[in-house]
Amino acid sequence: MARCHRRWRRRLICVCSPCICLVLLFLYFGIMVCSNINKAASQLAINAMHSPKSRHFVAPGSFHNKSFASMPKHFWKLHEDALWNQLQVTVDRHFNPILNPQNTPRTFQSKTFHDSLLKRSFSEVTGFDPVRRKLEQLPQQMQDFVSHMNRRNYPIIIQSANGTCGAGAVDEKEPPLLLLAIKSTEQNFKNRQAIRQTWGQVGWVATHRKNSSRRKEVGGYIRRVFLIGKDYPQESVWDVKLLQMEGEQYRDIIQWDFSDTFFNLTLKDVLFWNWFTSHCGQTRFVFKGDDDVFVNTPNMITYLHDHLKKPHTEHTLNEFMVGDVIGAAAPNRVQKSKYFVPDSFYKGLYPTYAGGGGVVYSGQLAKWLHKISGRVHLFPIDDVFVGMCMVRLNAHPIHHPGFLTFDFPSKVEDELCAYHTILLVHKRSPTQLIELWDNMLKTQGQCWHVPLRVSDNK
Ligand SMILES: *[C@@H]1O[C@H](CO)[C@@H](O)[C@H](O)[C@H]1NC(C)=O
Ligand SMILES: *[C@@H]1O[C@H](CO)[C@@H](O)[C@H](O)[C@H]1NC(C)=O
Ligand SMILES: *[C@@H]1O[C@H](CO)[C@@H](O)[C@H](O)[C@H]1NC(C)=O
Ligand SMILES: *[C@@H]1O[C@H](CO)[C@@H](O)[C@H](O)[C@H]1NC(C)=O
Repeated sequence: MARCHRRWRRRLICVCSPCICLVLLFLYFGIMVCSNINKAASQLAINAMHSPKSRHFVAPGSFHNKSFASMPKHFWKLHEDALWNQLQVTVDRHFNPILNPQNTPRTFQSKTFHDSLLKRSFSEVTGFDPVRRKLEQLPQQMQDFVSHMNRRNYPIIIQSANGTCGAGAVDEKEPPLLLLAIKSTEQNFKNRQAIRQTWGQVGWVATHRKNSSRRKEVGGYIRRVFLIGKDYPQESVWDVKLLQMEGEQYRDIIQWDFSDTFFNLTLKDVLFWNWFTSHCGQTRFVFKGDDDVFVNTPNMITYLHDHLKKPHTEHTLNEFMVGDVIGAAAPNRVQKSKYFVPDSFYKGLYPTYAGGGGVVYSGQLAKWLHKISGRVHLFPIDDVFVGMCMVRLNAHPIHHPGFLTFDFPSKVEDELCAYHTILLVHKRSPTQLIELWDNMLKTQGQCWHVPLRVSDNK
């Protein structure tokens, strides 16, 4: 009995020791490979941060900052069971130079390449039955979004600016300093009209600074364009005609052939960047905002002018974006909200982003955003999508308390010079815009010296 037992044990040892050794060896290699990938990844991200030329690959998992959660923590962890995350992981993996050394992250492939990559990842992910079943359980609006999220090449129906970068003064003597790109809808004629008469006037705007050496006015040229989709169902052919006439009159309308719904707003950014890249070569800055905001344009011009005067600005202009920056926001999980995003669609926090009421970025950044957006699946909340593109450019928006996307803190608004301390406030009706603008002009004498807000609370 004892002998038998001993023989058994010997046999067991004979068979098992090589197995155990193999397992240990395997584990060892596994750990080594993982830790090396991790190291290489952080190294790449660090390189990316310091050298503007290689800033187009940011290894996921290399940031410990929660506001970057729109990228998976480890790129080899593919089983985030939320649709958007799954789709994007597939795309991000493709541009990972460790997994795909032939894809250098520094060169951007053609638009058709990006398009087909997005489409391929989409059919790869949604090809699975469990994914498809989950898709069917999404809210109707989200299903609609998903079924169209591969398309972004909607044609322009009205382009009244006729090949130029929006409406502007005919006698511009230098490239525009600021293009106002305002998201509007067919129906919001009143908003557009109020903006045209107030803060959205095109032409020369002087800053508050004077050029003392030459006693010359300092300022910049402003241009304007409205970004519009289509209202369905069309009330009558007149709606189309009216917008066309408006466009001929003011030359500041671009209309694309997609339906102007909340979840389609991201298309306006993507298509605008595309249009900007081919029409606005020289424009220094872009203001992108809604048609229900009040902008203190002279302050904006002064702020941008001052920014350009700072040392080293030229080097950072590539990634310049300023606005009301929101960090580490969680997706809205309230079903009735228009911002509702279920966790079967997106998991994790949102990346740091600038609130969509209004944000300013450089023309160069607009072109980078155009390029990188080809590698990012559309996301139904527009300003979050912009944030997701920014993360992939390794660029960070700057927060400025002058952008009041959630209005004034209580009572501050009643102060005489309140509107002279801001860059933007949301939200104001067309009638209010006209009153506020008049008031601002009237109080200019008394308030010209008040500085911009420096704190969010007062
Ligand atoms: C994350 O990074 C952003 C941008 O660099 C920064 O503003 C924010 O404070 C950081 N958050 C944390 C929790 O470190
Ligand atoms: C647009 O430009 C083209 C070519 O420059 C010109 O023929 C056409 O009349 C212009 N259209 C308008 C509405 O100005
Ligand atoms: C004032 O004019 C001079 C000469 O054109 C120029 O070099 C300088 O940058 C200007 N200053 C400002 C504040 O624009
Ligand atoms: C976006 O626009 C397209 C084209 O008009 C439309 O078919 C689709 O339903 C819209 N998507 C959403 C989410 O409204």
